[in-house]
Amino acid sequence: MDNITGNPVTDKDFLKTRLFLVNDLKKMLRKCSVIIEAPRRFGKTSVIKELLRRENAKRDDRREFNVLFLELEGDETVNDFCLRLFKELLNLYRIRKKIDSINKLLGESWNAIAARLGKIKIAGLELDLREKTRNYDLAAWKNEITPLITHLDSIDKATIIVFDEFPDMLLNFKKREPERYKDTIDSLTAWLRSLRQTQEEGCKYRFVFCGSIHLRKTMEELGLGKRINDLESFVIPPIKREDALLLIESLAKKYNLEIEPDGVVYMVSKIIEGSLYYGQILVKALRETRERNFPQERVKAIYEAMLRRGNHDLNHYHSRLEDYLSLQEKECSEAILKHLCSGAAHEKEIFGLLLHNICTVEQFQSVVHRLIYEGYITRDIDDNGKLRFVAPILKDWWSCKKGVPDVCL
Ligand SMILES: Nc1ncnc2c1ncn2[C@@H]1O[C@H](COP(=O)(O)OP(=O)(O)OP(=O)(O)O)[C@@H](O)[C@H]1O
Ligand SMILES: [Mg+2]
Repeated sequence: MDNITGNPVTDKDFLKTRLFLVNDLKKMLRKCSVIIEAPRRFGKTSVIKELLRRENAKRDDRREFNVLFLELEGDETVNDFCLRLFKELLNLYRIRKKIDSINKLLGESWNAIAARLGKIKIAGLELDLREKTRNYDLAAWKNEITPLITHLDSIDKATIIVFDEFPDMLLNFKKREPERYKDTIDSLTAWLRSLRQTQEEGCKYRFVFCGSIHLRKTMEELGLGKRINDLESFVIPPIKREDALLLIESLAKKYNLEIEPDGVVYMVSKIIEGSLYYGQILVKALRETRERNFPQERVKAIYEAMLRRGNHDLNHYHSRLEDYLSLQEKECSEAILKHLCSGAAHEKEIFGLLLHNICTVEQFQSVVHRLIYEGYITRDIDDNGKLRFVAPILKDWWSCKKGVPDVCL
């Protein structure tokens, strides 16, 4: 496997001990639409992309699903979203040789486009589609897209429609239309819900919602939790010792790094309970030295040097707090993280000790949720639900960054 730091992985780069996730997701999708719940960098997109790759690699008659993957991070309006979904659906009908259905479902005004779709790829129609739908609002889009979706039953395999970075798109709506975004989100998610609910028994389409921002919390905070409460949660757990070990050993083998056993144990101890991403960062730091042999002392020195110089691959954790939180939320989050540098603590203790004069309990809880979903901290069920950093590497990095006395390396 290659060391892919920061991008989703599939195939030989997908860690074998995590393949159960792909199988579990598939089983769930046979029954219902899902929301993938996991903090940032836990491997959400990788699981979906590996499922997609596996389906596409099969012979057509063995394939169980058609998977439409929509990456929505850059979409800023309902029109962007609907156009993307519409194109994916048209493309599916084209690939499954159902151009006639498009004619029937969309009506005469689309005949010319449908005829061309029989001859050229969807990318060749991008400009025409954009022009034709330039002034569409959600109601107009619903008229076009709803029949294409409800008619997916006529296609010979179940269709999975994946919305990756869906909550990021909702935040983009907020930036674009601060006055109207709530209504927009309400109408859009109500429509998507009605599509799920009008499905007959044994129906052939499902949705997957996924993203780096906690969708349930985002919707609850808007008072719109009911729009998604029918979705089943698919949880991606943090990595276990065997995952961390296999990752380090596989990457060491691939790049001819001779890490002594106690060096490997040290690396594993720093990333356990976090995500594979941290293991990738550590291996990257070892490789950057251009050395071959790594006794434990050397691994430790490289690790500490990496944290002291403010690792580039971890800095996005901090910049996201800068970008997305208000001043007060930032102050609150920094106080929580600083306190946790000295060890796990209960929410009540942190609020009572440090924050009761600064924010309300609701604001505090909202920041805690945000830090959990950003992948910084977790509630440790084996330690009475105390909050702690997700993995030791994050704690060490944050301590260094903020110069927390006693804990700083
Ligand atoms: N099964 C896996 N095997 C090996 N590496 C993985 C696996 N899953 C995730 N990773 C690594 O972890 C990091 C995050 O993966 P991915 O982008 O899939 O997560 P994500 O939860 O979608 O992240 P984000 O919240 O940023 O969208 C990447 O560096 C990726 O290479
Ligand atoms: Mg992702």
